[in-house]
Amino acid sequence: MSDDFKRLAAEAALEEVRNGMRLGIGTGSTAEHFVRALAARVADGLDVIGVPTSERTAALCESLGVRLATLDTCPELDLTVDGADELDARLTLIKGGGGALLREKIVARASARMVVIADETKQVSTLGAFALPVEVVPFGLRATRNAIEAAIAALGYDAPVRLRGGDTPFVTDGQHHILDIDLGQIKDVDALSRALLDIPGVVDHGLFIGIADAAYLAGAGGVTRLVPVP
Ligand code: A5P
Repeated sequence: MSDDFKRLAAEAALEEVRNGMRLGIGTGSTAEHFVRALAARVADGLDVIGVPTSERTAALCESLGVRLATLDTCPELDLTVDGADELDARLTLIKGGGGALLREKIVARASARMVVIADETKQVSTLGAFALPVEVVPFGLRATRNAIEAAIAALGYDAPVRLRGGDTPFVTDGQHHILDIDLGQIKDVDALSRALLDIPGVVDHGLFIGIADAAYLAGAGGVTRLVPVP
């Protein structure tokens, strides 16, 4: 059922796509539905060029005939469509469950607009039940992890930090690792963002603040289009 809702949200977001657009294309199971729906339109003559947010998305686009570019050849995009692990009423997101958060954020920030696609269970009143992914460089991993633990403790969180993959650490497309932080409830996203980005070994985190312009959420009642509540 949840997968059907993901597909419905992805298909609904096609209404944002116009001929000639430069598109950022997200990563994850919902984004893959979007790629399939987009590819069907491309087969019918829609002319777009996509910048993928992961090697996995690039491979799917190539297999389905969606024309691709890189951010180096196409640094300004019209629209990015991507999934999310959690979103709140302000359309602040947690992303990175699939490990692509860094490229996802770079691509989204290079886009004039970002639209989120998700099943409605991703909408929450307070972010944080989904563990926050933090992308870190392998060098000095232990010191970086200690620094993250100290920073989040200083902000009042009693939150375990887990290395994704454990003894066989997950490696991102950028050759980094991911630490997942079980925060429970995030009280102040801006303070947390600043504290994490202040740590040298942290490349980026999965909080997307002030980036998403709209969200298509699908559930049993159909698809709803949300815009950020101020
Ligand atoms: C990938 O790194 C993530 O940011 C995904 O966008 C997110 O995990 C949503 O994934 P699903 O669409 O598979 O739920």
